[in-house]
Amino acid sequence: PLSPVIAIDGPSASGKGSVAERVATHFGFHYLDSGAIYRLLAYAAAQQAVAWSNADALADIATQMQIKFEHGQAYLNGEQVSHHIRTEEMGKGASEVAVHPAVRTALLQTQRNFRQAPGLVGDGRDIGSVIFPDAGLKIFLTAAVETRAKRRYDQLIQRGDHADYALILADLQQRDLRDSQRAVAPLKQLPDAVLLDTTDINIEQAVNIIIEAFKKAA
Ligand code: C5P
Repeated sequence: PLSPVIAIDGPSASGKGSVAERVATHFGFHYLDSGAIYRLLAYAAAQQAVAWSNADALADIATQMQIKFEHGQAYLNGEQVSHHIRTEEMGKGASEVAVHPAVRTALLQTQRNFRQAPGLVGDGRDIGSVIFPDAGLKIFLTAAVETRAKRRYDQLIQRGDHADYALILADLQQRDLRDSQRAVAPLKQLPDAVLLDTTDINIEQAVNIIIEAFKKAA
């Protein structure tokens, strides 16, 4: 039988990553950070001077690149590139490469391969709609865009990076638009997904709500 899946989809900076990782740890499940795969592709393309608009070349790179996640670190062709893909620039690149249907098709099986015993928590934009439509629990994790911008801002400052709140907010609004209006696998709340708005609750609370919902669904 197929292992259970918890799908957590939502907009950028909604806290999906932290929440999904903690839920996975709680159940001893594997974790799929699908956004990181699109970021790795954007980074690989930039390394090879391939434009983020070049769908065919991107699909080729997507088929050939070797990716690995270990202890929270991301590897591209054997090289640890975590800090290279966590930048705002690669977030933008990821959302540009992700609009191409050929790219999404090329990365479909890569993502499905993460489904292994005893289970998987996956986060992204289309985990519940396209990658694992049979997921036992689907969550739409969101928060007001100003709240998400503030969280991203705090995160960058804490890291010691430079951050400009107005720029981050404008960038998030643009990415929300691109992610929800694209033709293929747009970000949207599914009818069978549980809406979880974290504007007024913290990560711990969101994690507990998902854990309880999964226990009930199982
Ligand atoms: O979640 P994260 O911000 O790392 O994702 C980066 C970009 O990758 C998103 O803005 C989105 O365009 C794209 N993405 C996607 N489908 C997914 C995950 C991410 O299109 N399942």
